[in-house]
Amino acid sequence: GCGSEHHRENLSFQEVPHSLDFNHHLPQGYSADILLRWGDPIVANLKEFEPKQLTAKGQSQRFGYNNDFIAFMPLAENTPAGHGDIHCQSGNSDRGLLCVNHEYTQPHLMFSGYNDEYSATRGVSAEHVAIELAACGHSVIEITRTDKGWQPVLESPYNRRITATTPMQISGPASGDKRLQTTADPSGTQVLGTIGNCAGGKTPWGTVLVAEEGFGGAFQGDPNKIEDTREARNHLDFGVRPHNRNLGDYDPRFDIQQEPNEPNRFGWMVEYDPYDPQSIPRKLTTLGRFEHEGFTLVCKPGQPVVAYGGDDDEHQFVYRYVSKEAYLPKDPTHNRNLLTEGTLYAARFDADGSGKWLPLVFGQGPLNSNNGFHNQADVLIDARQAAALLGATPMDRPEDVETNPHNDCTYVMLTKNKSRAEDGVDAANPRHQNTAGHILEIVPPIKPGKKTGRDHTSDQFRWQQFLLGGNPNAENPKERGAYGQQSTYNISNHGWFTNPDNVAFDPHGNMWVATDGCERFGFHDGLWAMATEGPMRAAPKHFFGCPQGAEVCGPEFTPDGTTLFIAVQHPADALNSTYDHPLHRWPDNNPELPPRPSVLAIYRDDGGEVGS
Ligand code: FEO
Ligand code: CA
Ligand code: CA
Ligand code: CA
Repeated sequence: GCGSEHHRENLSFQEVPHSLDFNHHLPQGYSADILLRWGDPIVANLKEFEPKQLTAKGQSQRFGYNNDFIAFMPLAENTPAGHGDIHCQSGNSDRGLLCVNHEYTQPHLMFSGYNDEYSATRGVSAEHVAIELAACGHSVIEITRTDKGWQPVLESPYNRRITATTPMQISGPASGDKRLQTTADPSGTQVLGTIGNCAGGKTPWGTVLVAEEGFGGAFQGDPNKIEDTREARNHLDFGVRPHNRNLGDYDPRFDIQQEPNEPNRFGWMVEYDPYDPQSIPRKLTTLGRFEHEGFTLVCKPGQPVVAYGGDDDEHQFVYRYVSKEAYLPKDPTHNRNLLTEGTLYAARFDADGSGKWLPLVFGQGPLNSNNGFHNQADVLIDARQAAALLGATPMDRPEDVETNPHNDCTYVMLTKNKSRAEDGVDAANPRHQNTAGHILEIVPPIKPGKKTGRDHTSDQFRWQQFLLGGNPNAENPKERGAYGQQSTYNISNHGWFTNPDNVAFDPHGNMWVATDGCERFGFHDGLWAMATEGPMRAAPKHFFGCPQGAEVCGPEFTPDGTTLFIAVQHPADALNSTYDHPLHRWPDNNPELPPRPSVLAIYRDDGGEVGS
């Protein structure tokens, strides 16, 4: 494996079977609190959710739609607001801020009777659009563990919604660049809102990172009608199309014929401070512009911060960021600028198992005006083109990229790539038309003269395949999954999975993989847990199954590992259910309510650590 002594294999829970129905499924001896559902109030003195009464103002005070990434940020006792580092270091597992992304809206599931005919005959109203913009973004809610399980604290001063219209600043080298300037913001430094908020990350100084992934669909217009061929290509690359949602009819900034630069103000990572409810989020242009899945950090005292992220699109790249300054655990003010000054790299995976991080720096290699890059802002705004020019390896949709603190190796979830050509396969993406996805392991070098401690700042690394998704007994050898050390271990009929998307590590270093795509293989998406070292390395066990249509996002443990938070996203998706579907009522089972994306808090009935 990664070469660490560490291994842990007492994942002793009783495995959940593969199945497909309208419920969620947990191992025996576990329970799940339904903690937050779309429409639940996040402030005190609001009425219970009534979907038919929903207004944009109401939505902005309620939990948003399609919950994705989750960060649990501990709250220390007797520590005032601010002081995120003290709160984080408290490791409190009984009280904290749940910080949750809301990736996108699905009007046919949100609004009663809304379908194509409804849109055609009655039109989409300005109020629908305003509700949807308020249902996207992010929520912060204080939660606490009580005798009756986990509950939101509606009176908390920390509770807030961030939406597609919340004011934000733009930081880093692209801030103020002319390609970020618009009619409403000639300075190119301020933007309204965040969209496509998929996964994210968190920092030990108490901030949360929110990714902007599929933002192109929010913009309407025809890129080919834009005279500037570079911007035309840029907008086409991110999916701006004439037939996209007509948000531009309600807000001209979403129409590229009126505001050709507005899409350049999306596709960034966003950092904000949940411990300061007044804090203004900022977009981090240092981390590049693409369809961000998320960025996760490796922070070692006295060393630069390293962050890893993926661009979730076919044939896009794996990225790494190295901060200019070192992480100083006792200096939160200094740490607050670690993500605004540093170097972004893209990964090249070579066939011999070596790899190289290639710097995206203006003036280095091909990143010069001969290739259309006039400054560092161009390099970051067009990070995809820069990475391609540098010779980075096009991957099978990189989702979460996260480091296991126990063995200091980094894991890349590659969800699928139907467009991988037969003559386009390579060592790191070995499948033609990869339907089931796979996971790679990045092994940074040990620091010279040291026995342990990997150097994530090195530009060299080793890598290997960790597992191949799919049925290990599939007839077609190209679809066959590959898990663990097959000589010592037989996978159960339920242990295999497909389409790895999000990943988390429990306090013992076990890997928990959330999937997005298993229904194509006949069973629900869910969670699978496995060791990353030892005889049971890469030998998954099935822990959680979703209701039909849903995927699991944002697995997140409390610091003590006794609670696992998960976001069940787009329940009823596969059925294309409308509001009025007779069977699919997850999680309420109430005929007055549609299926609702919801966050679950999962724990063992005896209070022990989840999984063990
Ligand atoms: Fe929003 Fe990459 O999944
Ligand atoms: Ca995802
Ligand atoms: Ca994760
Ligand atoms: Ca997904």
